[in-house]
Amino acid sequence: MIKTDILVIGSGAAGLSFALKVAQNDSSLRVTVATKVDRSESNTKYAQGGIAVVVDESDSFESHVQDTLTAGAGICDESIVRMVVEEAPERLKELVEWGARFDITHAGELDLGKEGGHGKNRIVHHKDVTGLEIEQKLLIQIGETRNIRILDHHFAIDLITEHHLNMELVPDKRTCYGAYILDVKSGAIEPILSKITMLACGGLGQVYAHTTNPLVATGDGIAMAYRAQAKIWEIEYIQFHPTALYFPEESPSFLISEAVRGEGAYLITKSGERFMSKYDNRLELASRDIVAKAIDNELKISGDNCVYLDCKHLNIEDFKNHFPNIYEKCLSIGINIEVNEIPVVPAVHYSCGGVAVDSNGQTSITNLFSSGECSRTGLHGANRLASNSLLEALVYSNRSYLAAKQVLDKIEILESVPCWNEEGTITPRERVIISHNRKELQAIMSDYVGIVKSNDRLKRAHKRVYGLYQEVEELYEKSKVSVQLCELRNLITASHLIITQSLKQEKNQGVFYNSDLV
Ligand code: FAD
Ligand code: SIN
Repeated sequence: MIKTDILVIGSGAAGLSFALKVAQNDSSLRVTVATKVDRSESNTKYAQGGIAVVVDESDSFESHVQDTLTAGAGICDESIVRMVVEEAPERLKELVEWGARFDITHAGELDLGKEGGHGKNRIVHHKDVTGLEIEQKLLIQIGETRNIRILDHHFAIDLITEHHLNMELVPDKRTCYGAYILDVKSGAIEPILSKITMLACGGLGQVYAHTTNPLVATGDGIAMAYRAQAKIWEIEYIQFHPTALYFPEESPSFLISEAVRGEGAYLITKSGERFMSKYDNRLELASRDIVAKAIDNELKISGDNCVYLDCKHLNIEDFKNHFPNIYEKCLSIGINIEVNEIPVVPAVHYSCGGVAVDSNGQTSITNLFSSGECSRTGLHGANRLASNSLLEALVYSNRSYLAAKQVLDKIEILESVPCWNEEGTITPRERVIISHNRKELQAIMSDYVGIVKSNDRLKRAHKRVYGLYQEVEELYEKSKVSVQLCELRNLITASHLIITQSLKQEKNQGVFYNSDLV
């Protein structure tokens, strides 16, 4: 049994920046980061476009606020939007102090990219690998901070709350005491007891068959929080990125950053028609919900597999300089962007909702904080504005650190908790059922809970996912836990939440569209 002052679950921008702030501020605190595969693997690592921050004199906080509210389709929490936008420059400064480098113009100013829904150029970036730069620099800082211990290949199974402790259960009152963690290499399951637990498990893109999210994005944080009875909000707002590379041989899908359209690339059909003028006067730089839906509609009309991103008219040297990763990736599969268009399709990209938190990242469970993509803060509303996600993670991890600092001294770590109960369980003879169920779930979600939904499709998905749920719960009861089985359970929980919340929706807004509603 490990005891630690702070347990962080997840090593993306949210988890790592929180761990760093807490540990650097007080070297007597023990901070433990548990992460399910290698420490650098995360959605953060693949972020391309950058971070939205107001730094230019011609820009204003008000303009960033209004763009965020417009994208969010009327359901953002305006006070949260203002807070995040106004705290952005300070968080950017801190990243630079931690060593992160951002592109600079010849004039020595930050080079600001443009993305959909932004009225101004305000995307601070490191080439087209901004997330990798941030992840690496955070990990270097962490490596130099002696009171942080990272446990790679440690999978969080469940949060520890009263229901594991035979304590009296008071409705709506829960406290988190840490988590049960599976050491993936040894197979041992140990409780890690903590004063504060930070849930920073990232997204859930793997619920779907086609996603830009890496394999780790299985909604574990949301599912663990749900099982512990935390509030989960706005999970029905699943954002599709309009331009994932159409290359069916590869999964997850490689992203073609929205910043490419920000540089002036056009979307065209197979027959060469530029179509966005039919949908929005901001053309290719309308917000993501609009562009993704427009592409979906064009594909339904034409029956084609993809549309194309035409970059041929752009300055090739500028392109290679800003997007070296995209340029090389395309070249590696035979697409030379100087002469060929890039085939693209929408793919699941981001969960706008998640574990409900207040403005300090506090969840509805005492001593449990959450930051980053697995949380729901009120910033994104019904549709996240491009490049507001890394920003949200950094702002909320900082605010959570400030809030945790106030209460840490008053919290006692539990002396002991029951060991993980494996009585009567066996190691399944074969895991093929698990992988088949995962694929089946992804197919159901992609076919019935995609960009355009309908009541019939949602009801069908509900029924099918419930069938999978029953089958997998039965398996879980009698099996020794494995990462594959836990992830499948979490994917099913996340799917169930998306479907049931979608069925309750009464109107279409942002990324949510049901053809039976107005
Ligand atoms: P993540 O970075 O996903 O980290 C989650 C961590 O939790 C991982 O380390 C994971 O292994 C770990 N974990 C999960 N479950 C468990 C478990 N059960 N036990 C232990 N560990 C666990 N946003 C922007 O703002 N700008 C961009 O340019 C941008 N580009 C993007 C491009 C791509 C291809 C993708 C996929 C996303 C992009 N996003 C972008 C979104 C953004 O990257 C993410 O929303 C953000 O990085 C989330 O950070 P996070 O720390 O919350 O989660
Ligand atoms: C992109 O580069 O297009 C991704 C930006 C984001 O998801 O915010």
